[in-house]
Amino acid sequence: MERKALIRTALDGLGRSYAPYSHFHVSAALLCRDGKVYTGNNIENAAYSPGICAERCAFAKAVSEGEREFEAIVICGGPDGKAGDYCPPCGVCRQVMREFCKPDSFCIILAKSAEEYREYTLAQLLPESFGPDHLGGV
Ligand code: THU
Repeated sequence: MERKALIRTALDGLGRSYAPYSHFHVSAALLCRDGKVYTGNNIENAAYSPGICAERCAFAKAVSEGEREFEAIVICGGPDGKAGDYCPPCGVCRQVMREFCKPDSFCIILAKSAEEYREYTLAQLLPESFGPDHLGGV
């Protein structure tokens, strides 16, 4: 899938965030190697800690459907659903990506719009990381 189409998919999903506590809406679109795209949103909770980030929501949907190979993820969001600034993935989400993605090739796209975005590899955002290979692989 083309970059801009993946970005538009993420931007289109911003309205589906459930963020009544932070009012910070995040949306993700995860591209699998087979071409399928899984979206995700942050889902907050009155007890706070059960809340989940948009990126992990997308990975949970994809992995639970049998996907294991991933190319790229677009992340966007901001206060009240306005993607006015870049929204980098939290540390926990970076580690979840590390479980399933190749650090040197998995592409993390932070988008404000289909025209304004930045691209990183997972290795850039999570250097010297610990992953499945340290435990003998899976
Ligand atoms: N959030 C995400 O969904 N992804 C991130 O990587 C950063 C933070 C969400 C969690 C919470 O619902 C809100 O943004 C404010 O932290």
